[in-house]
Amino acid sequence: MKNGLYSAGIIGTGSYVPEKIITNEDLEKIVETSSEWIVTRTGIRERRIAGENEATSNLSTIAALRALDDADMDPKDLDMILVATVTPDMPFPSTACIVQSNIGAVNAAASDIEAACSGFLYALNVAQQFIATGFYKNILVIGGECLSRITNYKDRGTCILFGDGAGAAVVSRVEDGYGFLAQYMGADGSNGNSLAVKAGGSRMPASAATLLHDYHYIHMDGGEVFKFAVKIMSSAAEKAMDIAGITKDDIDCVVPHQANIRIINNVAKRLGVSEDKVYSNLDRYGNLSAASIPVALDEAVKSGRISKGDNVCMVGFGGGLTWASNIIKWSKDSNAIKKAI
Ligand SMILES: CC(C)(COP(=O)(O)OP(=O)(O)OC[C@H]1O[C@@H](n2cnc3c(N)ncnc32)[C@H](O)[C@@H]1OP(=O)(O)O)[C@@H](O)C(=O)NCCC(=O)NCCS
Repeated sequence: MKNGLYSAGIIGTGSYVPEKIITNEDLEKIVETSSEWIVTRTGIRERRIAGENEATSNLSTIAALRALDDADMDPKDLDMILVATVTPDMPFPSTACIVQSNIGAVNAAASDIEAACSGFLYALNVAQQFIATGFYKNILVIGGECLSRITNYKDRGTCILFGDGAGAAVVSRVEDGYGFLAQYMGADGSNGNSLAVKAGGSRMPASAATLLHDYHYIHMDGGEVFKFAVKIMSSAAEKAMDIAGITKDDIDCVVPHQANIRIINNVAKRLGVSEDKVYSNLDRYGNLSAASIPVALDEAVKSGRISKGDNVCMVGFGGGLTWASNIIKWSKDSNAIKKAI
């Protein structure tokens, strides 16, 4: 405990992506594009698409159970479940409540959080506050998306980018000196129109006209979003390092939002962090919005790219517009666990 606050950290991670793969070659058959264009301009080679009977809660439930297993925690010990998503199963009940029921977390409060692709980091940072104050002991944070449901497969500017998946993390008290060293969040609502789903809410309820105009799909000014992303991701990561009192040389692994490999490489360059310290799985999954960072985090941990004592920087941006970052001194010895197995 420091200054009356508990140290909070991540004690388990899990992820799940659906089985169905859509490759760039598959997309060549439905829109005017080429695999070469997609790989060169984005770094994406394939993405996963949820099956007909799968919704965000299904993907999130599997990721949640894997994270709980990794944390060696009974769902009944959870105090709260937060699901970050822009593709909930339905407006309400929340996807978090559906997951709560699926996993039998009968003692947990449950709610969704929406900050688009920054959503998982927003939810993680909210969870950290509840743990630090001692109000709650164990919180399950999930980023889950079925972006295929709001993607227009006639629009080559967006359909090449997005996929479906879910990632989860269990946030709990950790040893002092470990866990969250810094967190930072921001928003600029004045530029929200550059990345939006216009219909389906109270402003423009779903109707024959909204369907006709494709207003229930993602609309995006790619160039604007690209410029914003490079600038805000690097400044948000630097801000978190400042708050934590560390420099780029102290960072062991950056887990960025996976939107475009050119954005990720630009951010690494601006930060002065070598590309081998930056985790990316963009080629396999594309942009998973709120699920992107937790899926990448889980893979980075499980593949041994992150181990106890490492300073991990997560940073993301998204619709809103929003951005968020944090620095976590990793508290779990995943190598020791792997060796024991
Ligand atoms: C979308 C994105 C990949 C487009 O790449 P870009 O280099 O900016 O490409 P442009 O939009 O300038 O388009 C260049 C040309 O390629 C064309 N093009 C766009 N999509 C294409 C595709 N899938 N296949 C082939 N050509 C395509 C454009 O029509 C344009 O043609 P023109 O010059 O004849 O008008 C890029 O802007 C991007 O990744 N932006 C960020 C998006 C993002 O991260 N969104 C999610 C935020 S969480």
